Amino acid sequence: MGGRAGEVASQWLRRGGGAVPWDRPGGSRAGSFSPQPSRRCGRRSCGDAMGASDSFLSSYAGLFYWVGVSSVAYFVWLQLLRVVYAVRLWVLGNPAAVGPHLGAWAVITGATDGIGKAYAEELARRGMKVVLISRSQEKLDQVAKEIRERFKVETKTIPADFEDRESIYRNIKAGLEGLEIGVLVNNVGMSYTYPEFFLDIPDLDKTIDKLVNINIISVCKMTRLVLPSMLERSKGVILNISSFTAINPTPLLTVYSATKAFVDYFSEGLSAEYKNKGVILQSVRPYFVATKMTKIRKPSAFKPTPEAYVKNALNTVGLETQTSGCATHSLVAWFSRFVPKWYFTKLALDTNLKLRAYSLKKLKEN
Ligand SMILES: NC(=O)c1ccc[n+]([C@@H]2O[C@H](COP(=O)([O-])OP(=O)(O)OC[C@H]3O[C@@H](n4cnc5c(N)ncnc54)[C@H](OP(=O)(O)O)[C@@H]3O)[C@@H](O)[C@H]2O)c1
Repeated sequence: MGGRAGEVASQWLRRGGGAVPWDRPGGSRAGSFSPQPSRRCGRRSCGDAMGASDSFLSSYAGLFYWVGVSSVAYFVWLQLLRVVYAVRLWVLGNPAAVGPHLGAWAVITGATDGIGKAYAEELARRGMKVVLISRSQEKLDQVAKEIRERFKVETKTIPADFEDRESIYRNIKAGLEGLEIGVLVNNVGMSYTYPEFFLDIPDLDKTIDKLVNINIISVCKMTRLVLPSMLERSKGVILNISSFTAINPTPLLTVYSATKAFVDYFSEGLSAEYKNKGVILQSVRPYFVATKMTKIRKPSAFKPTPEAYVKNALNTVGLETQTSGCATHSLVAWFSRFVPKWYFTKLALDTNLKLRAYSLKKLKEN
């Protein structure tokens, strides 16, 4: 600090500080601004200080100008990159990444409905033989027959209830013996019947076991069965179906969203472990897809059919380790990044409270 302003400051310090000039009688009140000069800050000294700040600003004006221009240019450049990336991802995609070149067979859990069935059909359309795993042998036979007739590929079915965390895996292991598996889709999953407070979930203990066994244990155990043979051949793709609810905690769907966060973390970690060994792991995080689970009957851009969703999602393999699966869901995920976490959680709570009230009313009526 120099000149008159520095002199005033050093005098003030020599006096031992205390009230600053504008706190004294004749100055304006503390905390408020008044253009009226104080006794000590006469017209000349204030003029000097303003002159000093003017010359300070003018000497740095060029710098401020260029900082502003480069910030705007950087922002525009980032947005352009984003558009190029979106075109690469959602228009061109990476359709060659998944197909029989990875191995003849694709294994899909929860394959008789919704997203799992759509994966089975799309992989068969690409020429892969498919192993379908679900609970009902009747539904498995029906879907396997449809796929054989439409896509002229071999199919195999393995009935299994993923609620069971032990014995089914011996059976699945025996069923997969000798198959060259190029793709595993860990799709099976369950959610709540309706959003509910944790302690009020009907049949709570059983529901906890079911959610953990179906949504978490199945992903680990199926990966454990299939990954070794992929590593031997240095190629393979494992797709783990997580959820948009993995991005943020979802009140009233707490256990479900936590299991999906597990799937997301598990995939990301494994991807880092094995991507240099030829195996691609991807976590797929759908928002809403029109399936039995969501009870959405009218598909739309933001709530696509499972077929449309899976076509897009499969084209992102090799490009994204975590994917929203389609452009509209990616837009929702991108947007949600700018919402503060506390507000996001509040929004989810409010929405689920309304859904809960609606579902309980419907349950009472029936
Ligand atoms: N739909 C969405 O909006 C959405 C959003 C985010 C994440 N997800 C996730 O996407 C995955 C698929 O959901 P979806 O909506 O397609 O479900 P879905 O339409 O209800 O289909 C579920 C499939 O899993 C099978 N399944 C259910 N419980 C099973 C069990 N205990 N053991 C073996 N198979 C079982 C069902 O066949 P059977 O009944 O014949 O066994 C069916 O084939 C889930 O992991 C879900 O969490 C979905």
